Amino acid sequence: MVETTPLTDRYGRVASDLRISLTDKCNLRCSYCMPAEGLDWLPNERLLSDDEIVRLAAIAVQRLGVREIRFTGGEPLVRRGLVDIVARTRAVDPSVELSVTTNGLGLAKLARPLADAGLSRVNVSLDTVRPETFATITRRDRLHDVVEGLEAAAEAGLGPIKINAVLLRDVNDDQAAELLEWCVTRGYQLRFIEQMPLDAQHGWSREGMVTADETFERLEKEFTLTPAHEPRGSAPAELFHVDGGAGVVGTVGVIASVTRPFCGDCDRVRLTADGQVRNCLFAREESDLRTALRNGASDEELASRWVTAMAGKLPGHGIDDPTFLQPDRPMSAIGG
Ligand code: 5AD
Ligand code: SF4
Repeated sequence: MVETTPLTDRYGRVASDLRISLTDKCNLRCSYCMPAEGLDWLPNERLLSDDEIVRLAAIAVQRLGVREIRFTGGEPLVRRGLVDIVARTRAVDPSVELSVTTNGLGLAKLARPLADAGLSRVNVSLDTVRPETFATITRRDRLHDVVEGLEAAAEAGLGPIKINAVLLRDVNDDQAAELLEWCVTRGYQLRFIEQMPLDAQHGWSREGMVTADETFERLEKEFTLTPAHEPRGSAPAELFHVDGGAGVVGTVGVIASVTRPFCGDCDRVRLTADGQVRNCLFAREESDLRTALRNGASDEELASRWVTAMAGKLPGHGIDDPTFLQPDRPMSAIGG
């Protein structure tokens, strides 16, 4: 039995939720994420292989106390080995929660194989239920595929299904209530996330961002929202019960990542598709595990490097600090 060393930082936070980016590539081009032409993708030789990913996931679970793994991207469903990676990670430990954050394209086909491989849940990104607005935001006319993907995920038992939405001023910010009603009716748990300065084009501005308070105000015009009295813990969503009358009941989350940061409760750690540990979405430094791994490092040594990488985690993202600098890598290369 190997000893477990938790991923603790100087502020007493313990990271038990690992996000692994499987690719920086994506089949959509959301305007708040990527330019229309895409980005310079990571070269293949720098990407971790399936074996390398499973090995690092096993180290995280068996030696570092990780209890939850989320596969992200870019778009994780475009990675060919995904189902196999899920199955092999599941075999490491039957009790870790395994999920993916996906844009939903390809879920119609993959939901069942992923469920069979041992995936627990999916998070699907969906900012609108109008085909025209979807095409405007993602630059692809694929709303229909996402809707089918969601249905397939529900049928495959990959629930509770959570939907992530970003509101953009003058694009879809008037559709918050419509999206909520659509989700609640279908039993999906919607969470609105404040747009963060993580786009490759560096187009984010504080003024342009739709705040959680604004979102809440818009929703309150149509629904009665009451705080769901669960302790927030390290979950970033402020959760509300929704009552829209006529049997429309459910929950909605509002994630105020920028205006009410939850960095003090953060329990996350990230591994990029090229094998770098990031102790924060907004970290300006990464710790290279890939090179050590390819140079023959033992599991123990990799675990120890990982512990060191987390120890230096900063107390917060500092978006409001005048000296704030956006990370060099965009969201699609870090993983959500
Ligand atoms: N701010 C907030 N959320 C973002 N996402 C992508 N870019 C941003 C951003 N700049 C969301 C996607 C997806 C998840 C991975 O993160 O919509 O749901
Ligand atoms: Fe793709 Fe997600 Fe970025 Fe949209 S936000 S372009 S779905 S990686």
